[in-house]
Amino acid sequence: MNVSKVTDGIYQLSINIENMLFEGLWEVPDGVSMNSYIVKGEKTAIIDGVCGWDGVPEHFYDLMKQMDVDPKSIEYVILNHMEPDHTGWIEDLRKFHKDFKVLCTKKAAPMLEAFFNHTENITVVGDGDTLDLGGRVLQFAEVPNVHWPDTMVTFDETSGTLFSCDAFGSYGKVDHGNYDDLLEEKDLLFYEEEAKRYYANIVAAFSMFVDKAIAKCATLPIKIIAPGHGVVWRKDPNRIIEDYKRYASYQKGPAKKEVTVIWGSMYGMTEMGVKHAIACLEKEEDIKVNVHRVPQEGWGHILGSAWSSTGLVLAMPTYEYKMFPPMAAVLEEMGKKKVQNRKVFRLGSFGWSGGAQRELDDINTRLKANWEFIEPAEFKGAPTEEDYKNIEAGIKALCQAVREAVK
Ligand SMILES: Cc1cc2nc3c(=O)[nH]c(=O)nc-3n(C[C@H](O)[C@H](O)[C@H](O)COP(=O)(O)O)c2cc1C
Ligand SMILES: [Fe+2]
Ligand SMILES: [Fe+2]
Repeated sequence: MNVSKVTDGIYQLSINIENMLFEGLWEVPDGVSMNSYIVKGEKTAIIDGVCGWDGVPEHFYDLMKQMDVDPKSIEYVILNHMEPDHTGWIEDLRKFHKDFKVLCTKKAAPMLEAFFNHTENITVVGDGDTLDLGGRVLQFAEVPNVHWPDTMVTFDETSGTLFSCDAFGSYGKVDHGNYDDLLEEKDLLFYEEEAKRYYANIVAAFSMFVDKAIAKCATLPIKIIAPGHGVVWRKDPNRIIEDYKRYASYQKGPAKKEVTVIWGSMYGMTEMGVKHAIACLEKEEDIKVNVHRVPQEGWGHILGSAWSSTGLVLAMPTYEYKMFPPMAAVLEEMGKKKVQNRKVFRLGSFGWSGGAQRELDDINTRLKANWEFIEPAEFKGAPTEEDYKNIEAGIKALCQAVREAVK
């Protein structure tokens, strides 16, 4: 657990979580941080949870001492969002510090009871409500569905700090201080990639609500953005706001001048075709190419790449009259995450009947993905010379469609 000072009267407690699947699903090879914040006025508030804290009172007291906070002065626990990555610690806190009041939205309160049987001292807050800590005032704004329906953000009027919870967050552990003013540009670029993947995995499906939340936050005089995961933005909060605006815009496309190849193969027939497709793509120097194999690679990275790509190459064989199952599963999730309006080229091998395209069409229609298909290159068994030519033509057409969409 790291303790650091954000600005006068505000401290951050952060812990890195590694070797786990975030939400039980998303691989995070470089970890993810859980950030919580202590705000000191005459009274003290904790915003979001010190998840990962071991629940031992001595540890808690030691952390409070490092911040020069008298644990008895903690009067308020502000829950911006009920998801257990931010609230799972509340039981531990209750074990030895009973006299705190919880502030959360109307939608969070019943969940707090359902998840943790916590019903005492809850004050429901909503848009425009404030909390006077004595010497500083916190203001609340609801940002529903970023990420759960109950989510809100908290704004400290004195320092201009926005405690944004899941909004403006990123993956990536934060060993070396997670303040943008202390990080080098190469670190910021690393976190930008981590933020995009976090966005694609966690909030992508709610991009419309992200837009609304950004518009709402724009009315606040923000100087610092302090999210629940990842980098704290003290020097250039606008950078992460602009990143998030861009990520939200990728939902409906066009995204970047980028193509993501997602492929799977049982016996190497489709693999022969996709290798040729990748070689053709690599000749198109102005287009960035990402390649992922299913089921070998995690969905987190596949979705991250697809989110910023205007073009997709989907290469898979037919399997029991349908699509190679791990490909169908990941495409289904991409549809649910609203990876929409992409240019798509499909290729793949079959043995006798085919059937992969039918399932792809079904996913596209059912999930309203609105993917625009280039003529597919489907072949029986191994690709012939003619199939290779078709693949080459498909890739050329795809790249052209991507260029036209992005310009
Ligand atoms: C379990 C299994 C199920 C298959 N089901 C079908 C099918 O329903 N229709 C079809 O045309 N080919 C089917 N095939 C044949 C494959 O599509 C064919 O072998 C193809 O070349 C595999 O490409 P790959 O080597 O890239 O995996 C099936 C193959 C396997 C192993
Ligand atoms: Fe969340
Ligand atoms: Fe979270």
